[in-house]
Amino acid sequence: MSKRVGVLTGGGDCPGLNAVIRGLLYKATKKYGWEVQGLRYGWKGAVEGITIDINLENTEDIVREGGTVIKSSRTNPYKIDGGVDAVCATMEKLKLDALVAIGGEDTCGVASKLFTDKGINVIGVPKTIDNDLSGTDVTFGFDTCINIATEMIDNLHTTAKSHERVLVCEVMGRHAGWIASYSGIAGNADYILVPEEEVDVDDLCATVKKAYECQEYAIVVAAEGAQLGGVDLTKDAELDAFGHVKLGGIGERLAKIIEEKTACETRSTVLGHIQRGGRPSAYDRVLGTRLGCKAADMIEAGDWGKMAAIIGNQTEAVPLEVAVGTLKTLDMEIHENSKLFFGANKLTCAA
Ligand code: F6P
Repeated sequence: MSKRVGVLTGGGDCPGLNAVIRGLLYKATKKYGWEVQGLRYGWKGAVEGITIDINLENTEDIVREGGTVIKSSRTNPYKIDGGVDAVCATMEKLKLDALVAIGGEDTCGVASKLFTDKGINVIGVPKTIDNDLSGTDVTFGFDTCINIATEMIDNLHTTAKSHERVLVCEVMGRHAGWIASYSGIAGNADYILVPEEEVDVDDLCATVKKAYECQEYAIVVAAEGAQLGGVDLTKDAELDAFGHVKLGGIGERLAKIIEEKTACETRSTVLGHIQRGGRPSAYDRVLGTRLGCKAADMIEAGDWGKMAAIIGNQTEAVPLEVAVGTLKTLDMEIHENSKLFFGANKLTCAA
């Protein structure tokens, strides 16, 4: 039976979004013979009925591009007067039989509520560089992000060594330390700060000092949401439509503290959106493609209110409420093991 499928991307952009869009579109069109309608700017497009044309021709090569060709926003229909009814009206007006929402905790959270509250035929596809969505082993975007962050940390090693400095690298990760942990281990950091664990500033400074004395430089990697006793990390008190405070600034504050306590010259670098931009890794291109194709299969199967997930390297349909119920925080075994390498050669140096 012919169907019309809407697709939107919500929240921060993420490498691999275009691979999902292309995967969904190609499978929906070529295998099932359906039409796919892009909704521009995430939930804003669904509320206001803003469309964007996507077809086999104009998406043919987008798998290689970062970001999202159908644009994104952090609009929350539940925070707009009449927003939810407007989404239903758009579904009717555009004659959409199904809606695929590609996004993180917030976008999939809205999809989950729309399914429960209004019975909309939604399918979610998990997206976030933060890798913190439950119900899936991995999210696309994370691999690209940690590869970029690792390369940037490698670059910082060069300057840290040449100038004998402590360099602090601030990476993303509001509530979960996956990015800091993976890029910190791969980039051989002397200390890694993650949101899951309150940092002992004295231990941090002592470790950095030892590393510096031994190797004449030190590298610290900090997640933007890391917990540093007594330091206010909320740079901007303004909240977004999903109630998140804009984070940022831990690197700079940390650099000041380290310099004061260790007397070592310390600077900080914020990777910011550099981590989310650019071309997706091959892994994320394939992962996004698999999930986009799976979303089409889920529509065919009528798997409404579910998300296309990866479990044990197989694609699975998982209830959206599982995905958005709790955050998937960092596996602390990984973090504990990373501590073995904090200031790696300091022991031999001290001996
Ligand atoms: O959710 C992904 C994320 O990259 C977070 O780690 C970060 O806090 C947030 O997006 C920042 O996004 P933006 O600057 O676009 O608001």
